[in-house]
Amino acid sequence: MSFINIIEKKRDGKKLSREDIRDFITGYVAGEIPDYQVSALLMAIYLNGCDDEETFELTMAMAESGDILDLSSISGIKVDKHSTGGVGDKVTLIAAPVAAACGVPMAKMSGRGLGFTGGTIDKLESIPGLSVSLSRDEFISQVNDIGYALIGQTKDLAPADKLLYALRDVTATVGCIPLIASSIMSKKIAAGSNAIVLEITHGTGAFMRDEESSRDLARIMIEIGKRAGLDMRAVITDMNEPLGHAIGNSLEVVEAIEALKGRIDPDVEEVMRVIIPEMMIAGGKAETREEGWRLAEEAVSSGKALDIFRAMIKAQHGDPGVIDDYTLFPQAPLRSEVCAQRDGYLSVTDCAGIGECVKILGGGRVTKEQDIDLSVGLDMKVKSGDKVSKGDCILEIYAGDSGRAKDAERKFLESIEITDVRPVQNTLIYTLND
Ligand code: URA
Repeated sequence: MSFINIIEKKRDGKKLSREDIRDFITGYVAGEIPDYQVSALLMAIYLNGCDDEETFELTMAMAESGDILDLSSISGIKVDKHSTGGVGDKVTLIAAPVAAACGVPMAKMSGRGLGFTGGTIDKLESIPGLSVSLSRDEFISQVNDIGYALIGQTKDLAPADKLLYALRDVTATVGCIPLIASSIMSKKIAAGSNAIVLEITHGTGAFMRDEESSRDLARIMIEIGKRAGLDMRAVITDMNEPLGHAIGNSLEVVEAIEALKGRIDPDVEEVMRVIIPEMMIAGGKAETREEGWRLAEEAVSSGKALDIFRAMIKAQHGDPGVIDDYTLFPQAPLRSEVCAQRDGYLSVTDCAGIGECVKILGGGRVTKEQDIDLSVGLDMKVKSGDKVSKGDCILEIYAGDSGRAKDAERKFLESIEITDVRPVQNTLIYTLND
């Protein structure tokens, strides 16, 4: 069938066959179908959707457009963890070494920041010297040696997604459940783990703005993973305000190290209490969530989780000295404070806006290949619902210069309110496994 007929089919709300989808993906990766025709198909999918079968076929065609990693030489159940994105979301940085310390092999590939959300790989690169690209053999032998490796996605992993994602980014077709589900799951399936724990975020700081959409996204991702033979678990988490207090690459790594030392913010702990036990159960190391959390607490209090994080840094040529001396991280030359302009309660009204502040500071990408400043970011001194008095410091900005600090301050103040009435706390975390 010609590609125009495939576009017509979807434009008219009809179902694409497996063959249509395979022709689309192989033709696009081979450079035989131009961007303008693929853009038309993406928009038709955006407007008319895909059913579960089409979404599954699209995922598998994208996964099989490149290498499928074979992790069978690593013993044990390989568990992956993926977040659909958020602001200040340092869950992977904490959960992965904890799970590894409990015996769950963590062969983890992560992504870079996307839009207003941060990315684990950018954060990790703030550790001086650390390499996020290992060869396949180095990756596998590091997991066999120390139980944990964390690298960026290789260029051979789901290349169709790389091409499609870049096109979606510039054709207003990112926010579409079948396209998001197939994009994420193609990379997860290609990354070779046996089980996946999904952290599906919703709220003003997530791609899914409402809880119902996040449940729809979770449902289809679970369905795709199960059809591909994986053990799937999903945790729905609220992202209406940044997670923890640090937002920005090196600042978030410092917060993660503090958590591995046992000093964890209550909201981060709340998410960990659900995600880590799911990883332990999926990895066959715990029968119940209570047991999973007890083991996680032991891994932190004994120092084992921090030791694994240190070992990973060392193995990936980073400076493990950062764990005991945070001044070894890139340092922003300027720090400024933002004060409450009146008495009341802090309410974050636009969590994505707070993520945008980091981009304004140069800590996130505006163009795809841009270098970012890993030292900059925000340190929130209060959380939504906290009482503040006029003049209290509510935020510390880490900036490269005063112009950017001012712009970030302006954006931050647009993203919050100080209200007379305490805002309703809508933190909501639950699992969605069956
Ligand atoms: N993350 C991805 O990898 N793909 C999407 O489409 C959205 C978030």
